[in-house]
Amino acid sequence: AAPAFIDALIARMTLEEKAGQLTLNPAAMRVDAAAAANPKEAQQKFEVQLAEAVAGKLTGVFNGSGAVMAKRMQTAVMRDSRLKIPLIFAADVIHGYRTVFPVPVGEAASFEPSLAERTARATAVEAAAAGLDWTFAPMVDIARDQRWGRVMEGAGEDVRLGCLFAAARVRGFQGDDLTADNAMLACAKHFAAYGAPEGGLDYNGADISERTLREIYLPPFRAAFDAGALTAMSSFNAIGGVPASANKWLLTDLLRGEWHFPGIVVSDYKSDEELIVHGVAKDGKDAARLAFLAGVDMSMASNLYALHLPDLVREGAVPADLLDASVRRVLMLKARIGLFDDPFRRIDPAREKARSRLPGAMALAREAGCKSIVMLKNDGGTLPLKKSARVALIGPFASGAHDLIGGWAVFASDGEAVDLATGMRAAGGNITVVEGCGVNEVRPGQLEEALDVARDAEVVVLSLGENQSMSGEAASRTEIVLPAAQQELAQAVAALGKPTVVVLRNGRALALEGAVLDVQAILVSWFLGTQSGHSIADVLYGSHGPAGRLPMSFPFRSGQEPYHYDHASTGRPQPEGPIRKHRTNYLDTPHAALFPFGHGLTFGAPVYSDFAMDGPVLSWHGMLQVSAKITNTGGRACEEVVQCYVHDNVARVTPPVRKLIGFQKVALGPGESRTVRFDLQRNQLEYVGPDNTIAIEPGEFRVWIAPSAQDDGASGTFTLTTPG
Ligand code: IFM
Repeated sequence: AAPAFIDALIARMTLEEKAGQLTLNPAAMRVDAAAAANPKEAQQKFEVQLAEAVAGKLTGVFNGSGAVMAKRMQTAVMRDSRLKIPLIFAADVIHGYRTVFPVPVGEAASFEPSLAERTARATAVEAAAAGLDWTFAPMVDIARDQRWGRVMEGAGEDVRLGCLFAAARVRGFQGDDLTADNAMLACAKHFAAYGAPEGGLDYNGADISERTLREIYLPPFRAAFDAGALTAMSSFNAIGGVPASANKWLLTDLLRGEWHFPGIVVSDYKSDEELIVHGVAKDGKDAARLAFLAGVDMSMASNLYALHLPDLVREGAVPADLLDASVRRVLMLKARIGLFDDPFRRIDPAREKARSRLPGAMALAREAGCKSIVMLKNDGGTLPLKKSARVALIGPFASGAHDLIGGWAVFASDGEAVDLATGMRAAGGNITVVEGCGVNEVRPGQLEEALDVARDAEVVVLSLGENQSMSGEAASRTEIVLPAAQQELAQAVAALGKPTVVVLRNGRALALEGAVLDVQAILVSWFLGTQSGHSIADVLYGSHGPAGRLPMSFPFRSGQEPYHYDHASTGRPQPEGPIRKHRTNYLDTPHAALFPFGHGLTFGAPVYSDFAMDGPVLSWHGMLQVSAKITNTGGRACEEVVQCYVHDNVARVTPPVRKLIGFQKVALGPGESRTVRFDLQRNQLEYVGPDNTIAIEPGEFRVWIAPSAQDDGASGTFTLTTPG
């Protein structure tokens, strides 16, 4: 129940003021280049927005420029507005504020949710001091199609991993006390199925069954809400033809009716207005009506609620009590984060400076960077490099202040981040850098220079990949390959026969091929943020052993997408061995990943053996412990991510060939063995049945303890027995 003062406030509000509380607009005073280029115009726009805020036409603003702006706006509203309802300040603080951590998909590769919790906490400490109450994160969209650019912002293709990272990030952003000056509200986005657009094309509709929605795409949202997220963002896409931002079944029946979500739903950027272009609303007023009645409490950027909700209520098209319910939720949210007690609790320009880029946050960014790196191959122990080795560092991402922090790092810049050459030099490496190879072209003369330097070197490090704008929003690709110029560069370098290491910069899985694939060692380094170059150098020179694992499958070919390890079996699964006709494979490509989900090498050599269970039976209400022995047969210590997968031998819907149910990171010294145990319970075996409800039947299951989704590891079979 709302505190009495909130109901008293609502009773005093005009319809216009109520609609204002449901209107969130982009901040006029922004950090962006346009504002910097024309400060006079920016100032005028700010004055207009300030007047709107004082007139009660806004609930808050987003993506503004820090505590000074927030202070000016909040001061004016608390002093001059009729009702003195504090503004809320929001922003896309996705993977860091001024200190930038790895892009979320990179962090997911750590298979360490507690790391994401720590980086989200550090992010909130920095960002909340700049006056921000609310972040539009985490993005919890499961992404099974690597053509989609926003793969970069989530936790990959797996539901279990996605749920753990969703919950961890919510806990991190929000902390233990939502009223604290370093807490930020989290926002689970984009609700829902934004990560399942047809053809991997951003904004496209998702034509998926309710069963798939419930089994794959909804659980991370549920996990975020269970962890305390009080806001959700309705997505741009349609689901089965009904745009999410007009989808009453999704936003009201399911979210509020079934899940009892107490928080608020904010639209994505003009996703209410886009209902017109989607072809389901005839004009702005109709769009506002549809979105509001579907369950969007707050309209972002379109101003449609401010423009039309008062009339819609007067005309009886929108019930007044529904409007009050949304306003109550928004005011409750403001109360929950302490704004009514102290509207300035997060706004403090001095604290903003004092908490910016602190040494602890920088060290965490470096640690997170190291833990996000995945080593795909390392033939002949090419890595780690000796510091004395003469290295030729070549490629578009070898040096320079570009493409380091990744997309959606709105408040930081590449200029404040460490590039690879700087990181390798700081580590004491003996490197010669070939500057300026392009992402899409290697200029005349540059190839010769690169080859000359490579000839003189003992090892070549090729820094290749996607630039920042090749992944993220509106950055879908049909071919998830390296640009031809980089492939040619790798080819020419390979002809020299030098040991070569490829360090990839990427925001999605890539289909690697040819000379790039044939090099001795490959590191996936994503966009690692502020400390990029130091983190990569730590792994290259071995002061940090790689332990990251792929949170999504790297396919053989782009044409396999959407490819995910937990696909269902068909009636004609691909057998072992060569490709066969009339089986589920392509004529030219196996139905498998080149580098599977969960894959990642270490500097050790772990061997899986001695699968054991404490009985062949899991009773309905009981627990079954399964274990395997992992031995590091190598000469260097490592951290191994031990994964546990199950397969239901007979279910009511065709079950996934494997499903991840747990994982543990274990440290193993040279020659050391450890027995790793997983406790299985019935709920880990549940699935969504044909009637869209949770199902589970007694029967036989296979279980693997393995280093990846495609590795046999150590495995066995158990039976879930009938209840009672
Ligand atoms: O939070 C984002 C969202 O992810 C994409 N559209 C714009 C929003 C606000 O900037």
